[in-house]
Amino acid sequence: MDLREETNMKLANRIIALTLTMIFNIIAHVANYDVTQLNFIVLGILGLLITNLIYNQIKHKKDFITIGISSISIIGITAIYVFPALGEIYIKNVIAFFYLSLFLIALSPQLFKQQPFTVEISKGGYPESVTKTEQFLNINIIIAYIWAFIFLLAIVLTIIPYSSNKLINTILSNALPIIPQVTIGIYAATKLPKYLMGRVKAKPFKFESIKDMFLAMPYGLNKQTAKGVDTIVQFDLSGNEKVEGYFIIKDLLCTFTEGVHKNPKTIITSDSKLWLDISNGDVSGDEEFLKGNYEVGGDMSILLDFGGLFAPPSSTTKEKKLKKKKPQAFVYKKFAPNKIKNIVVFDGGPRNKKYSKTTFMTDNFTKGAIEAGASVEYIKLNKMEIKNCSGCYNCWTKTPGECIYKDDMTELRKKYREADLVVFSSPLYIFNVTGIMKTFMDRLLPIMKPYMLSDEQGNTLHPDRFPELGEQGFVVFSSGGFPEVDHNFDGLQAMYKNWNSHSENAHLMGEFYLTAAEIITQPVYKKRRELIADACQKAGQQIVKEGYISQEYMTVPVTLNTTKEIFKSQADMFWSTMDGKESYLKGAPKFK
Ligand SMILES: Cc1cc2nc3c(=O)[nH]c(=O)nc-3n(C[C@H](O)[C@H](O)[C@H](O)COP(=O)(O)O)c2cc1C
Repeated sequence: MDLREETNMKLANRIIALTLTMIFNIIAHVANYDVTQLNFIVLGILGLLITNLIYNQIKHKKDFITIGISSISIIGITAIYVFPALGEIYIKNVIAFFYLSLFLIALSPQLFKQQPFTVEISKGGYPESVTKTEQFLNINIIIAYIWAFIFLLAIVLTIIPYSSNKLINTILSNALPIIPQVTIGIYAATKLPKYLMGRVKAKPFKFESIKDMFLAMPYGLNKQTAKGVDTIVQFDLSGNEKVEGYFIIKDLLCTFTEGVHKNPKTIITSDSKLWLDISNGDVSGDEEFLKGNYEVGGDMSILLDFGGLFAPPSSTTKEKKLKKKKPQAFVYKKFAPNKIKNIVVFDGGPRNKKYSKTTFMTDNFTKGAIEAGASVEYIKLNKMEIKNCSGCYNCWTKTPGECIYKDDMTELRKKYREADLVVFSSPLYIFNVTGIMKTFMDRLLPIMKPYMLSDEQGNTLHPDRFPELGEQGFVVFSSGGFPEVDHNFDGLQAMYKNWNSHSENAHLMGEFYLTAAEIITQPVYKKRRELIADACQKAGQQIVKEGYISQEYMTVPVTLNTTKEIFKSQADMFWSTMDGKESYLKGAPKFK
């Protein structure tokens, strides 16, 4: 009998024991507890229960579930004839005794160092590399104890006298015990194993022989990764354990057969010890393959997925979505008051100060910073000579820290890195910074070293080439024509958030996004202009004096003082006045 047949037989034994017990319960109720009139049926049930139990013991040994269900019923029914007084107690409390048997099933296996009864239910979906681990067993012991508690509660709820009315009493004593089973019980059986498995990382399980591993693999097929896989993998293993056999993986099923398949898709020829070590993760399959220590014939692509086909299932996309944490409010960097003394503004817009809405914000910000005592250098990037990065990595290899191009970036990089605060100022062009700004940022690569560090959040970052210059802050200014931030500034925002989280010493201190920017110069928006100018100026003062920027200043430029609909019709009207008649910059109102 193979493992699958044996499991089915065990299950059949349990169902028989349970059904016989239930039949007896019904008969006892129908006969108003006087079952001595029905000796033939009762003794028949007793006989079947005993036969089932003996068969089960011979075949499966110590199957606690069958033992538990059967023995209480056998003892109870026998008592009717041998100790009538005890038998009467049994008959009148059949449901309570039934729960008692379930209670013993839930409690006893682990007390006798056997697998808790929940293992077979909860191991569905996990391969042996997980279900054979101590952690998996411990989780099941917890769940089994929860069930034991539920059945104990059911016993109590069954025997409590609720009312002097027999009917009400019967209804309540039957119905109430079901409540904890369908609430706590179902949660414990379905959600808890997954939840606990997600929290407990299984210790890597090691197979001791190829034979064990090959026999276990069909049971451990990961149904998620095996979707659509249709292949035959032939193994020809020599050495300690000579194994010739093949796996057929198809329709979410995996079978292993000893022998040689006529038409395998992949043939793996290896020393058995080596293949065991690879499978147990003790040596790298890729490295051993490159060294020529084993051979793969036919379709090699299966090798890429072979491990994953037998790995524990990961959460489904749906679950991952549910588990996704709520976005946390971003925490902007704060420095000590008066730390920021020298500020450099890199303006990546093509327009001059009369027209640029972005520069309008940046200028007010630097005005406030100067008032608070900082020095500010303003650099218009489109006036500089900045070549595109060539991607040669000479700045990381041949001439560390130095770019092959000797253009204005040599000086700009120095200014960038030496600043206490950098201001990135760029209009929003196709949902990101302008090409001018991007080219400038690409050319900042020499200030990093090529090596990779991990920060506490697990972000990978390149080390700062000039850590002795200490920490610096940066602030972002941008403006866009559309009236919204979401699904518009996201790309730009994400880029600067990544610049923050992947830099060793550069920290984001504030972001200013001006929405519906293009019509801000219209006379009707005078008030909005004044509010924005004021907020930016105050932010500039605050960052120097207090070392941070209050969130309230950042929200001003994104606040439309009208509805989106009104804004859109105003903007459309404005554009239509120029359609085919006027060049934009000539026709649009300027900043003073
Ligand atoms: C090439 C180009 C691409 C643009 N892409 C966007 C965009 O993706 N989203 C948006 O809201 N505005 C977009 N705009 C509008 C500008 O962001 C807007 O006119 C802004 O006010 C310009 O800033 P500036 O005045 O500082 O130059 C784009 C404008 C141009 C010229």
